[in-house]
Amino acid sequence: MGARKKITVVGAGNVGATAAHWLAAKELGDVVLVDIVEGVPQGKALDLAQAAPVEGFDVRMTGANTYDDTADSDVVIITAGLARKPGMSRDDLLKTNAGIVSQVVDECVKRSPNSILIIVSNPLDAMCQVALRRSGFPKHRVIGMAGVLDSARMRCFLAEALDVSVENVTAFVLGGHGDTMVPLPRFSTCAGIPITELLPKDQIDAIVKRTAGGGAEIVSLLKTGSAYYAPSAAAVEMTESILKDKKKILPCAAYLEGEYGINGLYVGVPCKLGARGLEQIIEINLTAEERIALHKSASAVQELVDVLGL
Ligand code: APR
Repeated sequence: MGARKKITVVGAGNVGATAAHWLAAKELGDVVLVDIVEGVPQGKALDLAQAAPVEGFDVRMTGANTYDDTADSDVVIITAGLARKPGMSRDDLLKTNAGIVSQVVDECVKRSPNSILIIVSNPLDAMCQVALRRSGFPKHRVIGMAGVLDSARMRCFLAEALDVSVENVTAFVLGGHGDTMVPLPRFSTCAGIPITELLPKDQIDAIVKRTAGGGAEIVSLLKTGSAYYAPSAAAVEMTESILKDKKKILPCAAYLEGEYGINGLYVGVPCKLGARGLEQIIEINLTAEERIALHKSASAVQELVDVLGL
């Protein structure tokens, strides 16, 4: 094996192919793109490889319909599955995507037993649970991408409302990736100042609501398919923190065993991501109202997990 890191992206659709693009642009490692559709991962990998001389990235891009080229990956990003159609909830996708994720996990863990899995397929928290059980990996190596995306959406709306750089704005989102997510304005800041000091409550409430419906807003605009630029960028930020051992604190779906009073379930919480994967779950004190909202969100995840019998 060479000195370069290796990242497998399963699903060469909108999210997967765009993730490959961000990974290459950041030169995070060699990328293997896998999909069941013949020719598509190969074609997209070749196209990206031909962008390399123009953009100046030196990474090897491989596309495949089988998994042999994925061997010894450091990180595996799983985006395989069906995307939401207009009017379809994430939950409608549950059983189909559980089958797809199970099959993909089996293939990947056989060849990359030491990898870190980043799950993107929806419904996110339930798919993480599927991947954890199926892989037999320890919980610190199976992490879900949701909070980085949800908080990015909130940061985008906040920066617009405040007319400041998006880089000045942080946003804190807890809970499952769905309509019950729990954005926390009091921990969301602009240049360190809580946004509750800068914006009136009704404007914050409107932003919180728009954040929770952020995925559906894009689905209804696109009509065929769901968001992919921001979801893929979010998965790549997590990958970067792991591969470079940056130890960034990012909101991710993590398997909780008692943290926040939740046991045996994937829920979005602040996580430190480094070379070992999920290195620490950060626990903060919640108000009674926030705690109730988080537990409500967790029970929505539990319902899906129960449907799958996990
Ligand atoms: N193995 C590998 N790839 C598969 C499999 C499988 N068993 N089943 C489906 N795929 C591939 C499809 O062929 C398709 O190319 O997964 C890809 C999914 O791509 P899109 O349909 O473009 O969906 P995308 O927008 O990328 O979303 C992927 O991420 O955000 C979530 O809700 C979203 O669950 C969805 C996933």
